[in-house]
Amino acid sequence: MVEAFAVASGKGGTGKTTSTVALGMALADRYDVTIVDADTGMANLLFHAGLEDVETTLHDVMTAGDVPVEAATYDRFGMSVVPCGTSLAGFEDADPERLRGAVADLAAGADVLLLDSPATLGSKSAVLPIVLSDRVIVVLNPTVPAVSDGLKVQEYALSYGSDIAGTIFNRTRGDAESVTEKADRYFEGPTLATVPESDAVQAARSDGTPLLKHAPDSPAAAAFRRAAGALSVADGDSEAVAERFRTAVIPDPP
Ligand SMILES: Nc1ncnc2c1ncn2[C@@H]1O[C@H](COP(=O)(O)OP(=O)(O)OP(=O)(O)O)[C@@H](O)[C@H]1O
Ligand SMILES: [Mg+2]
Repeated sequence: MVEAFAVASGKGGTGKTTSTVALGMALADRYDVTIVDADTGMANLLFHAGLEDVETTLHDVMTAGDVPVEAATYDRFGMSVVPCGTSLAGFEDADPERLRGAVADLAAGADVLLLDSPATLGSKSAVLPIVLSDRVIVVLNPTVPAVSDGLKVQEYALSYGSDIAGTIFNRTRGDAESVTEKADRYFEGPTLATVPESDAVQAARSDGTPLLKHAPDSPAAAAFRRAAGALSVADGDSEAVAERFRTAVIPDPP
């Protein structure tokens, strides 16, 4: 079985990478989870997962050559983690179309694939995770610009046949209820969790350790566990999903 989720927002810095790592760890209690840094232009998942010194990354897999995605897959924190490199040269050499094959190969060995997605919808590599995913988890901050950009992501996802799994409201400061209530009317999925603004999240990031390991008892970690608990993962046929990835047509960005 496998279901692929894009973790996306439409706006920078809302907490996509933090959410990808935290949801991945929480879901790993129940599923074989693989998380992928599909933000191949501005990768930073490696810093969240203590992988900044690894030699082989997704960039190598996406560059002409025969590097299999297994070579860029690392067992960390109970999950498989596929980091991406951060150099501009690595991004320039990477062919976005090769991400399809890499994700297809990963689908064979996972129950849950989480694709940490770029902030914008501005290029082929940026829209790819949303187009490939079965469902999108939209990470919002409780602000009007973040909600409005999230709605653009939803519209784009739905137009390419990806459903909305739900929203995560991150960095709330006791102001969440009125915003989440309004947003609930506009977003397709449920609010999976509201995650408070938290020093523990910043500290985990600085330490290069995922929040659920660094501060498992923090309210923010509990909120991410609730979000994971609210997700029911579909039992997609691995071969069929992999074939869909391999043959996906990458549309032009909006
Ligand atoms: N709930 C929170 N409380 C405090 N800080 C947070 C919280 N969530 C995320 N942050 C911090 O905000 C910054 C951005 O988070 P993150 O990298 O997860 O966002 P992103 O959406 O992936 O960003 P980008 O668009 O650049 O990829 C990080 O420094 C992270 O530690
Ligand atoms: Mg990110």
